[in-house]
Amino acid sequence: MEENQKFIVNGKRIDGRKIDELRPIKIEAGVLKRSDGSCYLEMGNNKIIAAVYGPRALHPRHLQDPNKAVIRYRYNMAPFSVEERKRPGPDRRSVEISKVSREAFEPVVIKELFPRSSIDIFIEVLQADAGTRVAGLNAASVALADAGVPMKGMVTAVAVGKVDDHIVLDLFKDEDNYGQADIPIAMFIRDGKIEGITLLQMDGQITKDELKEAIKLAKKGCLEIYRLQKEALFKRCRGEDFVE
Ligand code: CDP
Repeated sequence: MEENQKFIVNGKRIDGRKIDELRPIKIEAGVLKRSDGSCYLEMGNNKIIAAVYGPRALHPRHLQDPNKAVIRYRYNMAPFSVEERKRPGPDRRSVEISKVSREAFEPVVIKELFPRSSIDIFIEVLQADAGTRVAGLNAASVALADAGVPMKGMVTAVAVGKVDDHIVLDLFKDEDNYGQADIPIAMFIRDGKIEGITLLQMDGQITKDELKEAIKLAKKGCLEIYRLQKEALFKRCRGEDFVE
């Protein structure tokens, strides 16, 4: 990004999108042989793999909950996924993202059906271009459904933000790095209806009204992504295209 370059010119963003437009999304369910459920997802230049194992017996036993399953979520960035090589292994950022991502699924997965079990979700970021935590959540949701894990609905997520004083949908790298605010949001969607927000983080400064506008825009984006998640699952289940 050049110095003094504007983010929005004639209603178009640097990458040619409108302010309320998502990046191109590609979702494929059931891409891995050894996991119970899996998903490959692209959201713009993000490339993500999600693998789900379980519900399965949780070891060591002292970690078990006698009343419900324990969800474990590991978000990991490949060293080659970013411009400047990322040191392999967990760091503060990935520990935080893993925690909030797990929490985004807690109210949606029907854990009570599987006491003493674990449901393990692994996210591998192969290529990153901003919004990897939300792309990871979208992939995780499809992988959980692919694994047959009972859920009350889907988790669908997108980042919204502020650039050049405009609220925009689905930030890409330059907007995330040099914009005024970045707000990843995850929604719990059941039968096409938004039931609640299960993750909301914010980096930057916006007003209360702007936040309301941002959430409204995120809802629109999430409903579009939800449709693509469902489409991928239908394709996987029946080997046929999704017809609403
Ligand atoms: O990816 P997400 O927007 O959820 O998280 P972030 O912490 O806001 O990171 C934004 C972007 O910065 C990532 O998607 C990567 O493209 C980039 N990044 C990087 O280049 N090197 C890192 N060690 C971490 C993030």
